[in-house]
Amino acid sequence: MLVVKTRNELRDKLNKFDEASDLGLVPTMGALHLGHVSLIKKAVAENQNVVVSIFVNPTQFNNPDDLKKYPKTLETDVSLISAISENIIIFAPSVDEIYHKNVIHKNYDFAGLDNVMEGKFRDNHFNGVGTIVEELFRLITPKRAYFGQKDFQQLRIIQKLTEVQQIPVEIIGCEIVRENHGLAMSSRNERLSNGTRLKAAFIYKTLKTAKQKFGTESVVNVKDWVSNEFEKNKDFQLEYFEITDVETLTPAKNKINTIKYRAFIAAYTEKIRLIDNLALN
Ligand code: PAF
Repeated sequence: MLVVKTRNELRDKLNKFDEASDLGLVPTMGALHLGHVSLIKKAVAENQNVVVSIFVNPTQFNNPDDLKKYPKTLETDVSLISAISENIIIFAPSVDEIYHKNVIHKNYDFAGLDNVMEGKFRDNHFNGVGTIVEELFRLITPKRAYFGQKDFQQLRIIQKLTEVQQIPVEIIGCEIVRENHGLAMSSRNERLSNGTRLKAAFIYKTLKTAKQKFGTESVVNVKDWVSNEFEKNKDFQLEYFEITDVETLTPAKNKINTIKYRAFIAAYTEKIRLIDNLALN
């Protein structure tokens, strides 16, 4: 299994690939779980060559404590990836290698996609995500790049990034992978106690019922119902529940037949922030 740590080493390896072959990129922050495994397997199925990047990107963390506590499990990640294919290149650079001591994010115009939800509650988060993802795209020049729909807003923003920065890469959004009881897979789940991890199925259950209610009730009623569910459940503190247009991510006020909607939740439990989302129609 090839783990490369520097840009030069990576360029050397990429230069050896046949120019006509397809290159897939799966950008990650490590602490890999079955959600990542499904992205990597899809990338392997659709491309002759695959790079998985593992880099905990400091400029996308608005909370220093969250960055400090972000799990780092390179050895386990490498075994998990080699079990999928021995031919995958793992790019695991240091912060200096990426940022050259200048650990700052660029500023992007994401056409308002970053004004709501994660963007509203996590200052400059998407500028940080854009900075690292653009850097990886320019360095690796993949034909396709794979992202999970659990971070649906991130997925839309990366699509916008490639448009604004004119980067020729196909962005593939992949289905959310869930634990048996419904909790969306996330590296942060590892930090939950066993009991809370089971109880966290509440988030997906709430989304599913919100979807049912959305079929017959107004946006306001669905939002009120979700707020009430969280009021009653003291194990979880709701940060936001939002229903938006999937294209513009504009929060919905009324339902319009021609628009596709998605519901989004961010909530804390045991001081750990969990997010999830579900297509409504
Ligand atoms: O989704 C993630 O794990 C990260 O935001 C990403 C896309 C790897 C950028 O650091």
